[in-house]
Parts: sequence; C-alpha cells; structure tokens
Amino acid sequence: MKKILASVLLGLLSISISPIYASEHPGQKLLDDGCQQCHNNGMFSRPKSILQSYPELQARVEFCDSAANTHWTEQQFRQVIEYLNDTYYKFPK
Ligand code: HEC
Repeated sequence: MKKILASVLLGLLSISISPIYASEHPGQKLLDDGCQQCHNNGMFSRPKSILQSYPELQARVEFCDSAANTHWTEQQFRQVIEYLNDTYYKFPK
C-alpha cells in the first residue's frame, strides 16, 4: 500500500515539475510574462517597425526592459531576443 502511494505521489510530482512550455521557445514565456504591461505581441509585427537591424532589436529589448523591470539574466535576455528575431524580425546577425 505504501509502495503504491509512493509511486502515485512520485507520478504527481513528475507531472507538476515537467515544464508546461516544453515545446515552446524559452523566450516566449519570458516575453509573455514580463512584457505585456504596455503592449502585446502585436507590437512586434506592426507594419512600421522602428527596428531595422539585429543590434537595434537588442537595444530595444534592453530599453524596454528598463521599464518592464524583469530582472532577467544575460541568458534570458538572449532567449527573448532570439525568440523575437526567430518569430518576428528575422534580421541577419
Ligand atoms: C513601459 C512600457 C513598456 C514596457 C513595459 C515594454 N515596452 Fe516595448 N515598447 C514600448 C513602446 C511605447 C514601444 C513603441 C516605441 C515607439 O514606437 O517608438 C515599444 C516597442 C517595442 C519593440 C519594437 C517594436 C517595433 O518593431 O517597432 C520591441 C521589440 C519591444 N518593445 C520589446 C519589449 C520587450 C521585450 C519588453 C519586455 C522586456 C517590453 N517591450 C516592455 C513600451 C514598453
């Protein structure tokens, strides 16, 4: 009985710790959680984008983050910038 209970609990544990967004880009969840106060993701596909290049995209994410205050690590920054570039901007690097 104890064994069954333990394996049920273990099963539950592994469900709850498995990442829900496993199939998504890690940058997507960061963006969705941290950057929706002022604009939604429609901002990234607007016809008259203010961005012309990859360095401008990097600078913009840093600029917006000074308002969004996400406290991302360097790696998380890179994930968000990659996600934005892969999904919307497709600038050459
Ligand atoms: C304080 C409000 C605010 C927050 C929070 C914010 N943004 Fe912005 N963002 C803006 C505004 C305003 C613009 C449009 C600027 C313009 O048109 O000159 C913009 C534009 C952008 C653009 C350029 C869109 C384009 O192609 O023209 C990107 C990329 C962007 N934001 C990313 C982010 C990311 C990533 C975050 C989260 C870290 C974020 N923003 C959070 C206000 C914000």
